[in-house]
Amino acid sequence: MAFDVQKIRLDFPILQRKVNGYPLVYFDNAATSQKPKIVIDSIVDYYTNYNANIHRGVHSLSQEATDAYENAREKIKNHFNATHAHEIIFTSGTTHSINMVASGFSKLLHKGDEIIVSAMEHHSNIVPWQMLCEKTGAILKVIPMNEDGNLILSEYDTLLSENTKLVFVNHVSNALGTINPIKEIIEKAHKKGAAVLIDGAQATSHFIPDFQELDVDFYVTSAHKMCGPTGVGILYGKSDWLNKLPPYQGGGEMIKEVTFEKTTYADLPHKFEAGTPNIAGGIAFGVAIDYLNLLGFNDIQSYENELLNYATEQLLEIEGLRIYGTSSEKTAVISFNIEGIHPYDIGTIVDKLGVAIRTGHHCTQPIMDFYKIPGTVRASFAFYNTKKEIDSFIEAVKKAKIMLS
Ligand code: ALA
Repeated sequence: MAFDVQKIRLDFPILQRKVNGYPLVYFDNAATSQKPKIVIDSIVDYYTNYNANIHRGVHSLSQEATDAYENAREKIKNHFNATHAHEIIFTSGTTHSINMVASGFSKLLHKGDEIIVSAMEHHSNIVPWQMLCEKTGAILKVIPMNEDGNLILSEYDTLLSENTKLVFVNHVSNALGTINPIKEIIEKAHKKGAAVLIDGAQATSHFIPDFQELDVDFYVTSAHKMCGPTGVGILYGKSDWLNKLPPYQGGGEMIKEVTFEKTTYADLPHKFEAGTPNIAGGIAFGVAIDYLNLLGFNDIQSYENELLNYATEQLLEIEGLRIYGTSSEKTAVISFNIEGIHPYDIGTIVDKLGVAIRTGHHCTQPIMDFYKIPGTVRASFAFYNTKKEIDSFIEAVKKAKIMLS
């Protein structure tokens, strides 16, 4: 069946609304995706019909809620081809997941150990590692990037050494859209005995990483970029690593036995899931994954590429416009500036015309410093966007340019 975008749009109630008197054109999908009704309904259904705490009660509601939550974990495991469901830890999102690993490694790293990050990371994949270095005396090294927004892998080769303990790179840059060659990055790190964490927050809405095929040690992502709710995400870790890391938080649900003399910890995944989790969120994440798989990721990706090419061609016709992030391997994200105009001003004017885009440094100040700019305008597309919406966006940008020049 052909990819029927008009039919798909009907699944998303919010796409029917107007903003400032204009039909909403939502091009801020890299910040968060919109939600199909089936996902929204699953949250209402949980609270309406079987709201109960999980893993605790023998009563029927608790069993139903536990089954739905664990079923979602199983779906996520299958979707990403993890080896075991217990390798999928529910978290509140990517930032939480990264902090869990960074905190765990504070017990495993020593002064002089080296850890490697890339030049195009989100602050959430920089700051926790800097904090880790402060605690342990480990040294942070950076894989540089080139003007196109590609990592310079020959430099990565020179940074890797027997002292490298950890490498963390995003799968896709949120600011530039670059898809990084993570398989190669992982293989090279493993040859030196280093573990790798991949931040997949901007990847998993566009394609499916295969955890076993990648042989990745840790992979983190958030539901809300994948048509799921905010406040839920995953930390995937190979069992060996998760068993080696100490728990992140103490509390209920993460113990085997508690006495005042000594507490022993629960097995995976519960060792990392202290406290009552976002039950509705986890269940809805599973529903979102089913929804996306029904559409098909191959079709999603090729349609989004069509949108990317269509918008890129039209934007480049605007005089004085420069696109940042011109890798041949990129997702449907376009960061740009128009000479002499502040990105914030463009964002404000196009919003008045119903177009939602993001402006600023996108939590990637090192990328902005590299290009010597304060920020960019960023349009990020999803499979429910249309070429007609891109036309409206281009018109809005042209109007903004005339008003601001
Ligand atoms: N990290 C998200 C973005 O790039 C919020 O917009």
